[in-house]
Amino acid sequence: MKLLVIHGPNLNMLGIREKKIYGAQTYEDLLEYIRQICAREGIEVKFYQSNHEGDLVDAIQGAYYDQMDGIIINPGAYTHTSIALLDAVKAVQIPTVEVHLSNIYEREEFRHTSYISLGCIHSYYGMGFQGYEEAVNCLKNYWNS
Ligand code: DQA
Repeated sequence: MKLLVIHGPNLNMLGIREKKIYGAQTYEDLLEYIRQICAREGIEVKFYQSNHEGDLVDAIQGAYYDQMDGIIINPGAYTHTSIALLDAVKAVQIPTVEVHLSNIYEREEFRHTSYISLGCIHSYYGMGFQGYEEAVNCLKNYWNS
């Protein structure tokens, strides 16, 4: 199984940005956490991060041409604004799971809308790094069903 994990703007700043919300662990720590889960499960994993909306659309489209079996996406602030990212996940028809470190539904009103969720098989939020493990398990169950 081949999995692409996509991160949007400012997630490369984990460990520096708003530590009270996102914690002290770095983006590299997060990748290592996901790498270990995937190694244990025998899943091949690739990572992509960009601060640019169009590049994220390109990465989602690329997953189609690379025949990825699943996508985990934390689009950062583009979650709340980007119909282009929603259209991209709908276009590629690859099972996609949305993850947010924080609980977007208990934060500012403008974070309560998630466009990407409309194209995802499941969403995890407010669980920190563990949300990514849940997302991997969710895809595993999807693949095995
Ligand atoms: C986030 C939540 C978003 O609202 C925010 O813009 C982020 C991170 C999260 O992981 O909690 O950049 O996606």
